Amino acid sequence: MTTPMRRQYLQLKSQHPDCILLFRLGDFYEAFDGDAEIVARVCDVALTSRPVGNSQRVPLAGVPYHSVEGYLAQLVEAGHKVAVAEQVSEPGSGLVDREIQQVITKGTVAEPSMLIDDRNNYLAAVLFNARGNEAGIAYCDISTGEFAATQINGSDLAETEQRLGEELSHLRPSELITSEWNVEESGLAPLIGSLQAIVSSIEAWQVAFDTARSTLQRHFGVRSLDGFGLQESPQAVRAAAAVLAYLQEMQPSALSQLVRVQSYTVDEFMVLDDSTRRNLELTETIRGAEERGSLVRVLDETLTPMGGRLLRSWLGRPLLDTALINERLNAVQGLVDESNLRGQVRDALRGMGDLERWIARISQGKALPRDLTGVREVLGRAPGLRQLLISSGLAPASGPEDQSEAQGSADAFLKQMLDRLPDCSLSLELLERAIDDEPSATLANPGIIRPGYSEELDAIVDNSRYAKEWVAALEQVERTRLNIPSLKVGYNKVFGYYIEVRNTHAGKVPQEYIRKQTLTSAERYITPELKEYESQILNADERRLALEQQLFRRVCSELGARADEIRCLAEGLALLDVYASMAEVALKRRYCRPEINDGAAITITGGRHPVVEMTSEEPFVPNDAHLSPGELIHILTGPNMSGKSTFLRQTALITLLAQIGSFVPAASARIGVVDRIFTRIGASDELHRGQSTFMVEMIETANILNHATGRSLLILDEIGRGTSTYDGLAIAWAVVEHIHNSPSLRAKTQFATHYHELTDLADRLPQIVNYNVAVDDSGDDVVFLRRILPGRADRSYGVHVAQMAGLPRGVVRRAGEILLDLEASGAAGPATLLDQTPGRKQKEAMQVGLFADDHPAVESLRALDVDALSPLDALNRLYELRQLADSS
Ligand SMILES: Nc1ncnc2c1ncn2[C@@H]1O[C@H](COP(=O)(O)OP(=O)(O)O)[C@@H](O)[C@H]1O
Ligand SMILES: [Mg+2]
Repeated sequence: MTTPMRRQYLQLKSQHPDCILLFRLGDFYEAFDGDAEIVARVCDVALTSRPVGNSQRVPLAGVPYHSVEGYLAQLVEAGHKVAVAEQVSEPGSGLVDREIQQVITKGTVAEPSMLIDDRNNYLAAVLFNARGNEAGIAYCDISTGEFAATQINGSDLAETEQRLGEELSHLRPSELITSEWNVEESGLAPLIGSLQAIVSSIEAWQVAFDTARSTLQRHFGVRSLDGFGLQESPQAVRAAAAVLAYLQEMQPSALSQLVRVQSYTVDEFMVLDDSTRRNLELTETIRGAEERGSLVRVLDETLTPMGGRLLRSWLGRPLLDTALINERLNAVQGLVDESNLRGQVRDALRGMGDLERWIARISQGKALPRDLTGVREVLGRAPGLRQLLISSGLAPASGPEDQSEAQGSADAFLKQMLDRLPDCSLSLELLERAIDDEPSATLANPGIIRPGYSEELDAIVDNSRYAKEWVAALEQVERTRLNIPSLKVGYNKVFGYYIEVRNTHAGKVPQEYIRKQTLTSAERYITPELKEYESQILNADERRLALEQQLFRRVCSELGARADEIRCLAEGLALLDVYASMAEVALKRRYCRPEINDGAAITITGGRHPVVEMTSEEPFVPNDAHLSPGELIHILTGPNMSGKSTFLRQTALITLLAQIGSFVPAASARIGVVDRIFTRIGASDELHRGQSTFMVEMIETANILNHATGRSLLILDEIGRGTSTYDGLAIAWAVVEHIHNSPSLRAKTQFATHYHELTDLADRLPQIVNYNVAVDDSGDDVVFLRRILPGRADRSYGVHVAQMAGLPRGVVRRAGEILLDLEASGAAGPATLLDQTPGRKQKEAMQVGLFADDHPAVESLRALDVDALSPLDALNRLYELRQLADSS
């Protein structure tokens, strides 16, 4: 036998078996059984037990209701789904009714305390068609109301997954809804694992196409989905419906947020795969996974949370359309040129809170009074911003294009901006009229609604004020009337208001006083009149609170009805914030406006690495880069630590910044739009990720070769490093040849390598150019000049670097001798023989070339990967070499 409450608990639990059920019990939320153990562990609260009848006990862990938010955050953060069962009937003699009112998961949290200001929190759905060559993806952020969907088509499952992965790595959803998709076994398992997204599933019938379509039509109240641009995208329709169906089950109140679904195509944006996003450290560093040291940290001068989110979204999605890019650049230019305007705009934006999330909470019925005052404050500032823009008229953008054209775009921008800053005067007026200047923090206390807004409320407050004044005056009145100077009127929780008379004056107590309590030296009384006023006061307080809550809800729903306009304003402010931030950065860090075109060349003069220039201790040395069909592939050689990787990333980052519409760290830049940036960073640079395996490196290289186009930018840093020297060199060589020769590829490439032999390629293939990092070795030490110059590095300086690293003098000297010997013996690089003979013969030829010197010491020296040696290893190897040399 179990208790009725236990049965109720089990019944509720069975509705969401995969969730932790928090069961409201008086002032606590309790978790039982296995849930209790999890709650106790994750939230660090005591694990106890509770009887459930028949001398049986079950584990129990409870958290107090008033601080439940923090515990919810911990549970959700740990990847759990939490169902919250509230008491829905008044506690009486029998069992209280309970009902699950919401399920909170990583993707459906809306509490400000559980969200990060400048990050979106996406709940995404991913669905495939039966063949696996089409995938739909839809995502929403219920804290902002953003909802979008697209369909991705590949030639087969692998390609679809690949493109889906690129999209997911941009969105970084915290929760993924799927149906009939085994994530664990898919090619995306590692990515999804690294996102730490929780995966939730939905029943297949809910996302069958017909059901999905009607789900969307019902939700948006439309007869056809054509207006959303989803007619050609059945998988997108299914994915969008999956989001709706999931929310319906988990957080029905959030559905009101999703007022439209935006369709988009991934083709509008530059493709960046997950490893490129990581390698370029767009939003976090590779090493610490921290934002500090990442590109966004240098770039983010936004002043509002919605601006911060928009900037991050842009950063992950560079554009391809020159007109759209120029539109952004014009806006930035306008704010760069007009310093006054920029300053004023930024002053107006500074400290504006999260309008986007406030309005979301308001229309979800979850708002607190301070959310409304936040909105009021922003709405109050918006007209001033509009006025600023209008009176500035924005100076003509002095871009490189025709002046009148630039003027046209500045005007267009201004108009576009003004459309996006609606003045929302009705909402503002409502808020000013209805909400007190400093309303109470929660809905549990009166003092939210401003006097004058509601006659009924004012009447209640007036009456209660009269009663309060009467009670307040009573003490003086009675003291005089009865001539008892020590008479007191007081209040306590048990008797309410009372009159206290000390025993010395007991004789003067009038008849109408009713004795209530006896103290040692005094008596406490009440009178019918006092009780009458008391009940007026208490009633009034209760009625006042109830009415204020009701009025507050009404104000919220009125605002909710005009939420569209306020959301539009929020978007406009975000946009303006991002433009102003870009302008600020451009000036502060001396960025220039890039010229964007559809050509095939990238020409950067005086380019800098935006992050390294901020963090490095030595002055940053700018460099030029020119990639074009004639100089398609750069082979960059130079010693370790000389600046190769920095230079390569700098080219990629400048290109990316240009395509998000930002100014760039360079003296000048002309960027032919690129469709993708690929980066492959050699194994040693990524050792710490525990992914040093050669296999991973080759998979990524394969991906590049299979997907790059003539419009892509390839950054290859030390590929082939993860294997033995000869393998590595051979692969690097073949990869460069392939990029150069295969007609569908021919992508602009910068290739940094420590294989000097690769520089021979420039003599053989016309569109390959050598560059090297200049080094000054005229003194004793090698000085890195950080200048990128045409031509090959004449030597690797590995020995010098070894010296700088503190290898013993003797070892360095001996290594120098050996090196000289090697160079003198003219050990032929592979290049001389490689491309003379194709196919099998070539292989043999290479082997001959590679092993031309048959002295075992030389052979073993050649097999040495100097870059990968620790000083101690190097020493040991030298001893071995010495022995080899002696022994033959
Ligand atoms: N152009 C530059 N100006 C100033 N310092 C630079 C420059 N390029 C690189 N550096 C510094 O040199 C360090 C090593 O550069 P890196 O690009 O990693 O060298 P490599 O790839 O050749 O081993 C960087 O961390 C940076 O501090
Ligand atoms: Mg490097």
